[in-house]
Amino acid sequence: MTIEDITAKTAAAAPAAPGHGQTVCVTGAGGFIASWLVKLLLDRGYTVKGTVRNPDDAKNDHLRALRGAAERLLLCKADLLDYDALRRAVDGCQGVFHTASPVTDDPEQMVEPAVQGTENVINAAADAGTVRRVVFTSSIGAVTLNPNRPPDAVVDESCWSDLDYCKKTKNWYCYGKAVAEQAAWEVARGRGVELVVVNPVVVLGPLLQATVNASITHVLKYLDGSAKKYTNAVQAYVHVGDVAEAHVRVYEWPAASGRYLCAERVLHREDVVRILAKLFPEYPVPTKCSDEVNPRKQPYKFTNQRLKDLGVEFTPVPQALYETVKSLQEKGHLPVIPSQN
Ligand SMILES: NC(=O)c1ccc[n+]([C@@H]2O[C@H](COP(=O)([O-])OP(=O)(O)OC[C@H]3O[C@@H](n4cnc5c(N)ncnc54)[C@H](OP(=O)(O)O)[C@@H]3O)[C@@H](O)[C@H]2O)c1
Repeated sequence: MTIEDITAKTAAAAPAAPGHGQTVCVTGAGGFIASWLVKLLLDRGYTVKGTVRNPDDAKNDHLRALRGAAERLLLCKADLLDYDALRRAVDGCQGVFHTASPVTDDPEQMVEPAVQGTENVINAAADAGTVRRVVFTSSIGAVTLNPNRPPDAVVDESCWSDLDYCKKTKNWYCYGKAVAEQAAWEVARGRGVELVVVNPVVVLGPLLQATVNASITHVLKYLDGSAKKYTNAVQAYVHVGDVAEAHVRVYEWPAASGRYLCAERVLHREDVVRILAKLFPEYPVPTKCSDEVNPRKQPYKFTNQRLKDLGVEFTPVPQALYETVKSLQEKGHLPVIPSQN
């Protein structure tokens, strides 16, 4: 089926939906966040061209099963380093959501696909000539890694991670995301592309895909016995449904611009394991911290006001943790153990 066939079907499908008659591209469509984004876009009536590295891989079956996918989802084969494939995927689109990225601390695998891939996507959007706006999924990793930020400072969209510090501490994921976001802004400015950026924190919630991604492993390790202790560290969290909604809102809201921090709250790991142990006492959730020497790390302050102003209502993190665990059970990644309580 061609994109013209699909668009014609859309026109007949949902005339009142906000995305009716519009085609958008989502890169890395099979990933955790992107799958939720594709689902939401289809629900809103958009026609979606989703890039995946191998459309025939069974790991993309969950996308084909989404409501509206048979009529309005086209999977396009594209690696981030293949400009021509990306250009074909963006062809005929009014919007692009660039979500694909390696998620790893291996510098060889991380930096080039993240940075070159982002430049390729924005250049492809500029060359297509039909794209109204590009939404780039950046990360909190491009925002908070700065040893010189005063402890009381409120983290907001003006904050940037310190690249030298990322390198020195070997945080190659954060380094790659920060450089990719900088490249996105530079190429978009140079090519006259309208760019909006979402910076999510650690994303939790139900999986649509069959595999477990990195942010869900962050929770799984506290339930399956692989983490014996928790670290003395803090982290901000957000529900995947809210992340998808944030992307759609910054795309649809005409006046949206700049960066949008996407976070519900900051928790110490001790809080995370306590919530998990209370909700799911049947699992071997760690009760001890690996650091018995240093003072407990304090949560940083942040603002999510920009997304609230666009109407995003954030799901409480305990709810996101609950839904994550239920989903891990449903997908067979965690055994269902009858609780003694
Ligand atoms: N999850 C979080 O906590 C979180 C927080 C902040 C920001 N983010 C950002 O959100 C985006 C999605 O993250 P996620 O958690 O949904 O990750 P994910 O489930 O691992 O999805 C990443 C996607 O990127 C694709 N990809 C990776 N390298 C690629 C390449 N060279 N060419 C084409 N596609 C490539 C993957 O395709 P394959 O399936 O073929 O590998 C996959 O579909 C990323 O940009 C990430 O940095 C995530």
